[in-house]
Amino acid sequence: MKIIGTGCSHPQKIVTNQMLSQMVDTNDEWIVTRTGIKERRVVSSETLEDMAIDAARKALGNAGISAKDLDFIICSNVVNEYVTPALSCIIQGAIGATCPCVDLNGACVGFLYGIDMAEAYYRSGRVKNVLVVSAEEPSRMLSWEDRTVCVLFGDGAGAAVLSEGDNILATRLTASSSTFSLYQKHELQPSPFNTKPNSNLPLVMCGQEVFKFAANASISDVRYLLDKTGYQPDAVDKYLLHQANVRIIEMVREILKQPKEKFPLNIQKYGNTSSASLPILLDELNREGRLKEGELIVLSAFGAGFVSGSCIMRW
Ligand code: UT7
Repeated sequence: MKIIGTGCSHPQKIVTNQMLSQMVDTNDEWIVTRTGIKERRVVSSETLEDMAIDAARKALGNAGISAKDLDFIICSNVVNEYVTPALSCIIQGAIGATCPCVDLNGACVGFLYGIDMAEAYYRSGRVKNVLVVSAEEPSRMLSWEDRTVCVLFGDGAGAAVLSEGDNILATRLTASSSTFSLYQKHELQPSPFNTKPNSNLPLVMCGQEVFKFAANASISDVRYLLDKTGYQPDAVDKYLLHQANVRIIEMVREILKQPKEKFPLNIQKYGNTSSASLPILLDELNREGRLKEGELIVLSAFGAGFVSGSCIMRW
């Protein structure tokens, strides 16, 4: 396939490091030096559905196709207010599409799981145009009293429209179960037949363990894709890495011995927006004219599971 349009949407509310330092025992210097984040957008009066729909509409507008032309909608999401129906169904109705749709939970890698699924459906001859939307609200998963996590995340939505083409050169997805390093449990409705305790825990994260996994996974995924397609690191024009921590991105950049300009960042403005991170970055670069036709682009992400994913494509 080929990406023919992108879009994104952000909440209105900006939460700066300074604001967080009045809520928990933290400070701007710690957050900036350890993560690269200066501020993040956090959902207040808007809904995640509205942002997902807005990002989807913008991606369709950018692609120049109508919602009626879509053959499939894939929405990557970890949590939203609805348990059911799927967020993709809500998006489908709002944009006026009629195609089948499905949600997937690939944690922060959801966008790349979506691209991989779209490509597989395309190769099987079942679809021509696919919308992949990533919409995430981690601010509703974590404790705002826990300084080790509340400074890291932000909310947002990003989307891409894929259509006929042979620009996706290779993808790689991995999963290795390590469910105690990064998870959240939420309460379900009580049942008279269920005697198990019901847990309702905010996001729990062992930061250093995730950091090590993330750096190793990203570097091994990128190397795998380069080996598979026969390119050297120098041949890649842009590396778009999951915006979780600028130190992880720097580590990957140094190992690949590449210049800073090839690793665009927006983490300073949005923090870690989970699976929305990559499509938001992609949309920013696209609209700023920073992606040239034919450029070689690598995307790479990691997240809870642990899962990781990467993709090499021509723009
Ligand atoms: O999408 C995937 C999601 N997760 C990630 O990508 C996270 C990956 N991990 C990381 O990005 C980093 O591990 C963190 C940013 C979470 C933490 O950075 P670190 O350099 O690994 O710090 P640390 O956990 O070793 O903590 C160092 C110190 C500790 O104090 P002591 O024990 O040395 O006294 C922490 O209690 O920093 C303290 N600390 C803070 N201090 C000020 C932890 N959070 C904060 C904070 N403000 N917000």
